[in-house]
Amino acid sequence: MGSRLTAEDVTLGYGERMVSTRVSLAVPDGAFTAIVGPNACGKSTLLKAFVRLLTPSSGTVRLDGRDVSGHRPKMFARQVGFLPQGLIAPENIVVRRLVARGRYPHQSLLAAGSAADEEAVRSAMAVAGVTDLAERPVEELSGGQRQRVWIAMVLAQETPYLLLDEPTTFLDITHQYDLLALFARLRDEGRTIVAVLHDINQACRFADHIVAMKGGRVVAQGAPADVVDAALMQEVFGLPSIVMANPVTGTPMVVPTV
Ligand SMILES: Nc1ncnc2c1ncn2[C@@H]1O[C@H](COP(=O)(O)OP(=O)(O)OP(=O)(O)O)[C@@H](O)[C@H]1O
Ligand SMILES: [Mg+2]
Repeated sequence: MGSRLTAEDVTLGYGERMVSTRVSLAVPDGAFTAIVGPNACGKSTLLKAFVRLLTPSSGTVRLDGRDVSGHRPKMFARQVGFLPQGLIAPENIVVRRLVARGRYPHQSLLAAGSAADEEAVRSAMAVAGVTDLAERPVEELSGGQRQRVWIAMVLAQETPYLLLDEPTTFLDITHQYDLLALFARLRDEGRTIVAVLHDINQACRFADHIVAMKGGRVVAQGAPADVVDAALMQEVFGLPSIVMANPVTGTPMVVPTV
């Protein structure tokens, strides 16, 4: 499997605070990758480096062999969509207008709001299940409704790469499964998905590739059945567990024994 998006020996941090030292990750093209690991281990930091929000102090993040910092911002945003953690909506904006902001990389100053833009916004709202909320102010929505609006915004961007930081937070269990199934469907259509997920069983069920991080390092990666076992759960999370086959899917299912 090829990898157009790669991080090579990147060292990441904030000022004096080092988070990752010489971490490397090749994102498998056309696959659904789940990044798992304990709080503060550097998952969001790594995603930010992939989307140019954080410049490595050494090492290189590349898209198509070229340092991401050398790509023009709009061109890069046509390739890579990013849903950060903990977004706050601007005040007084209705859902449709916020979702439409996902179209910015496709628009020029002269031609905003083409038919293609309208169709992308309509389709993204439908897929994310927020069509009925289109005219509601975002700040008046529930946490889960708002999360689905953000998802719609990044879908409207129509990028081959989707990087999502904890996309299932705030969602009820049905909406979580709907969203993960949507990512699997987008993967089947050829897109590349990278999502930080805290639910290891959902990660095993939906992702093709698991990346387990601890202390800023990638400690294991591979197909869920090849990497997720009790030893990994102990090493990464310090959690005693047994790992059995999910009765529905056969994928690894972690049951803590604490
Ligand atoms: N803007 C920032 N400035 C300074 N330190 C930061 C900043 N963002 C994150 N950190 C620190 O970097 C480390 C890694 O944070 P990061 O957000 O990557 O963790 P994470 O694995 O995404 O955790 P979580 O599961 O809680 O989201 C933490 O120690 C955190 O305090
Ligand atoms: Mg995070």
